[in-house]
Amino acid sequence: MQVVSISSLKGGVGKTSVTTGLASAALAAGIPTLVVDLDPHADASTALGVRPGDQLDIGRMLKAPRRARLSENVVPSGWVERAAAQGAARAGSSPGVLDVAVGSAYTGIYDRPDLGRRDLRRLSAVLAGAEKYELVLVDCPPSLNGLTRMAWYASDKVTLVAEPGLFSVAGTERTMRAIQLFRQEFAPNLSPAGIVANRVRSGSAEHTFRLAEMESMFGRLLLSPHIPEQANWQQIQGAAHSIHHWPGESAKHAAALFDALLANLLAADSRPAAARVRDRVNR
Ligand SMILES: Nc1ncnc2c1ncn2[C@@H]1O[C@H](COP(=O)(O)OP(=O)(O)OP(=O)(O)O)[C@@H](O)[C@H]1O
Ligand SMILES: [Mg+2]
Repeated sequence: MQVVSISSLKGGVGKTSVTTGLASAALAAGIPTLVVDLDPHADASTALGVRPGDQLDIGRMLKAPRRARLSENVVPSGWVERAAAQGAARAGSSPGVLDVAVGSAYTGIYDRPDLGRRDLRRLSAVLAGAEKYELVLVDCPPSLNGLTRMAWYASDKVTLVAEPGLFSVAGTERTMRAIQLFRQEFAPNLSPAGIVANRVRSGSAEHTFRLAEMESMFGRLLLSPHIPEQANWQQIQGAAHSIHHWPGESAKHAAALFDALLANLLAADSRPAAARVRDRVNR
């Protein structure tokens, strides 16, 4: 199992969009995946089309992590049913696993700057019950407070999301420094998986300049491919659809970018999963 947090200091740069794009690619590649929606706004849960029943949300699981029983409280993403319906024609295709630890405003009680070590461990304790997943994606809120630090504590890797603009690039540099400090103090095995450049406009001179700047600042940590500004992204999210099951060429192109991004993200230390995504990329 590999736990990857998707974080940024700045709001609205595309953390939830990148989380759901990667989740969509993982579902398409048949990688059993859990999305932990750690943002009190619960946008990822909405985008993933969950229909919560009487399961505990992630806030309540964090409150009593030892009694959380994750496997009984996750909710399958609505995408799985849709993917299964579309794939039913293909003989032998299995429906895939994409579950969600549902977000709630309740997590807000942990989003303090002074969270102690005991509280930092809460998500790791909940994820002790996540062994059936190959990949766990944690969608973080836009701050470096308790919830993001709790996610880092439980993670193998942190992926940062940045728009190619001055404030976002500066925020990413600050976040990188925060990760280094956090590693030294709490999590020596945590590594920055890389930075995803999101909402890139190909014709924009400013974006071209900022991408070059990011390349010189972060080197190989700047992941490829970059994710372009996608005109129908809000429509797809509004319909709680996955990018891989939205019709049209532009969605198909975006889906292929997320396949490639996931393969690059997993490449270093999850070879079987990375190979499955690469198979799709090469098809
Ligand atoms: N590549 C993209 N193309 C077009 N729109 C995008 C793209 N990425 C994100 N958006 C839009 O930008 C808005 C913010 O994106 P998102 O919610 O993913 O960011 P976030 O970093 O998770 O925000 P928050 O900090 O509030 O959690 C959303 O309306 C989303 O649809
Ligand atoms: Mg978000």
